[in-house]
Amino acid sequence: MIIVAVDGPSASGKSTVSRRAAQALGFVYVDSGAVYRGVTWKCVKEGVDVKDAQAVTNLLIRMNMELVLKDQAVGYLIDGEDPGQEIRAEPVRERVADIAAQQSVRVYIVEKLRLMTKFGSLVMEGRDIGTVVFPDTPYKYYLDADPEERARRRAAEIRQTEGAGDVNEVLSSLRRRDQKDSSRATAPLQIALGAKIINSTGMSIDQVVDTIVSDLKKAGVVS
Ligand code: DC
Repeated sequence: MIIVAVDGPSASGKSTVSRRAAQALGFVYVDSGAVYRGVTWKCVKEGVDVKDAQAVTNLLIRMNMELVLKDQAVGYLIDGEDPGQEIRAEPVRERVADIAAQQSVRVYIVEKLRLMTKFGSLVMEGRDIGTVVFPDTPYKYYLDADPEERARRRAAEIRQTEGAGDVNEVLSSLRRRDQKDSSRATAPLQIALGAKIINSTGMSIDQVVDTIVSDLKKAGVVS
């Protein structure tokens, strides 16, 4: 059982790179941010205030999250429902950093993420995978890119799903979220001890995937 941890700020290219690296390695892909987004989606749906710690805890107690393997990636059903692309839309996007700052949510999700090893070797991307979720894995990467580059990438992504995405608006939203993610009291975004740092500004997706896969081959993880 091998765990490859890929951490970094939003829109650093983690999702595409991790998914492709998992395919190349024959591992299962996990987008841990999607799990935080799923809990946020459920809060929005149930009208729970994401800043109300007690109300969020009560929701976690009464909801059921079932882990499912689909297309070599781990997904989930919340009370039997798949939120699909709704986890990428504005109501979730604007609230997810507050949910990710809730202690009860982090405990709940970290446990779910650790359970995912039942599906096999994993490439898991997030913010605290190498520091908190699987601190003992020797295979850790920290992916970064300049904020302007990240805003351009995220705006292009938003344009695909919502038809509009202003780079300046996305840049300020990203900066707000980076600030919250790095300064929160519990599991802030940090570079894990021993993580290899890759700045992907100016690199193609293929180059980043190659960097990770070659490094793992050199380490003897795959042949
Ligand atoms: O990667 P993303 O943009 O989908 O992440 C959504 C939010 O979840 C973001 O505010 C950071 C947070 N997150 C986290 O705190 N820990 C993780 N392991 C993954 C995401």
